[in-house]
Amino acid sequence: ADADPGSLRTPIVAVLGHVDHGKTSLLDKIRGSAVSEGEAGAITQHIGATAVPLDTVSSMAGDLVMADDFDLPGLLFIDTPGHHSFSTLRARGGALADIAVLVVDVNDGFQPQTEEALDILQRTGTPFVVAANKIDTTPGWNPQPDAPVQETYDSQSDRARQMLDENLYEIIGQLSDAGFSADLYWRVQNFQGNIGVVPVSAMTGEGIPDLLAVLMGLSQRYMKTEMEIDLGGPGKGTVLEVKDEKGFGATLDVVLYDGTVTEGDRIVVGGVEGPIVTEVRALLRPRALSEIRTEAEFERLDSVQAASGVKLAAPDLDDAMAGAPVRVVRGRHLEDVIGEVEAELSEIEVDTQEQGVVVKADTLGSLEAMANALREAEIPILRAEVGDVAPRDVAVASTATEAENRVILGFNVDVLSDAERELDRQDVRLFNHDVIYQLVEDYEEFVEERQR
Ligand code: GTP
Ligand code: MG
Repeated sequence: ADADPGSLRTPIVAVLGHVDHGKTSLLDKIRGSAVSEGEAGAITQHIGATAVPLDTVSSMAGDLVMADDFDLPGLLFIDTPGHHSFSTLRARGGALADIAVLVVDVNDGFQPQTEEALDILQRTGTPFVVAANKIDTTPGWNPQPDAPVQETYDSQSDRARQMLDENLYEIIGQLSDAGFSADLYWRVQNFQGNIGVVPVSAMTGEGIPDLLAVLMGLSQRYMKTEMEIDLGGPGKGTVLEVKDEKGFGATLDVVLYDGTVTEGDRIVVGGVEGPIVTEVRALLRPRALSEIRTEAEFERLDSVQAASGVKLAAPDLDDAMAGAPVRVVRGRHLEDVIGEVEAELSEIEVDTQEQGVVVKADTLGSLEAMANALREAEIPILRAEVGDVAPRDVAVASTATEAENRVILGFNVDVLSDAERELDRQDVRLFNHDVIYQLVEDYEEFVEERQR
């Protein structure tokens, strides 16, 4: 049945890709373009996310997006910093994001984190488009600020066009090697089976209208039923980060993908030792740019509705895990909600063996991705947890009899200073990296060298 248009939630768009390929610049450009269109006030900066309402998308995309053709409220973009694995963005065993933009530098092409992101998109079945970024760096490029692709393409020299084409076809080829049928977006008829490649420049704004149009089209066509939710229902979200905040202690940066969360709500959050039951003391959002200098950094909200990014302050959050579920209890039995959170946490439980390496990861999602990669490489795991490397981990690794198991594999984690000392003393090797396949490779090399 057709839902009341007012009840559709904003689709969540993850922006991901290799370090420095231009994810943040792309979002900055979208925000900046809104300012120049006189729509600055319409864009809201959330915790870890940027909300762009439909009218603003439409005015930035010009003829490519007619607001009347859409009934989704806009787009909520989540930036994923290069060191922060996209795998954090999980929800209910799938992807938190409804759609994604995979940003690829046209000159650099595919890089390790591009491949990693593709793996996750494939595994979670997340529809995505590729933004082939930095087209303005093509030698001889003649920039047409904020113009649609076709327009800027037509005003380039044959030589520049040819160079760009070469780079674009290289990317299309790499996508095809990875098992995705892809083409320049205007040649794609069916976005469900084919990946559209949109040439853009986060610097000059060229191609941004096209990117917005493709994203709106994708969400509208394939996502609509998933956007029909009970916006007033108890909130459901995913923890992006656990952060200490002056005056609040440990807080959660959360992306809310369902329902509402209100100050005073009782919530259940996934923690290192199991579900944490606590009560929301404050809901916080960054202040608009103009207010930042004079006021406190955050604005307090009474209530927040999906989809949003919000900082949640509550007691007892120290052990909460990035990537873990957050659930509002409101109107339901606490035991049932605890059960839901436990069920989600157990989805990610890793198969462990009697003998193997110790794994530490920054988030639940990256732990899951590590476990998958290690299983494929046939590397057994003794223990796997979210968190920094602590003396306890070194102690566990040091019990191994084989040198190749006296190892801790860390994904994007810190090493506590007393753990550092223990590593030396206990002769335990630590490999720490922010690219999973690199970690596996480093470890395999270490094992090979030992066998020589
Ligand atoms: P991480 O968050 O570190 O993973 O990087 P990122 O993907 O967010 O890249 P970011 O937006 O920080 O851009 C990296 C560099 O590329 C910056 O120096 C940008 O100015 C530059 N850059 C990004 N987009 C473009 C573009 O379209 N054209 C040009 N010429 N430079 C760009
Ligand atoms: Mg960035």
